[in-house]
Amino acid sequence: LEKFIMTAKTVKDLFIHSLSDIYSAEKQMTKSLPQLARAATNEELSAAFKTHLEETQGQIDRIDRLVEGAGIRLKRVKCVAMEGLVEEGREQIEEIEQGPVLDTALIAAAQKVEHYEIAAYGSLIALAKQLGETEAATLLAETLEEEKATDERLSLLAEQKVAAEALGK
Ligand SMILES: [Fe+2]
Repeated sequence: LEKFIMTAKTVKDLFIHSLSDIYSAEKQMTKSLPQLARAATNEELSAAFKTHLEETQGQIDRIDRLVEGAGIRLKRVKCVAMEGLVEEGREQIEEIEQGPVLDTALIAAAQKVEHYEIAAYGSLIALAKQLGETEAATLLAETLEEEKATDERLSLLAEQKVAAEALGK
């Protein structure tokens, strides 16, 4: 991929750029989530990653629909922020043996991803509203809710089972 040169000038340009960026981020997650699911020992955690993989595929479809509905064209960009977050998760998998401690690290890595996505979708919704793209805003809000739910599910897992297992309780 060619390095993206920032040329956004209008709110619409910014919207398209941000949307292209999160599209790349979601695509990267479809490759990362199966790795996280495989690396997790706790079954609920592994299941949470698998569920979110399915949701992520739905989120990509949702962006495809949005793009069609709004008559816009995505740019070919790579979300370097997500690339870094994914890389950090991969490092944890390489450095920590499978078990509750790795699970805790995987939750932290995945929550960083969710928080990035929550911020990105929040901004996108605001931009869509500014542009009067009501349908786009609605679709993006659906995804935002899924990201928030995933984040909460991971928080609960971190606080409950996985934490207890990591401490050997
Ligand atoms: Fe997502």
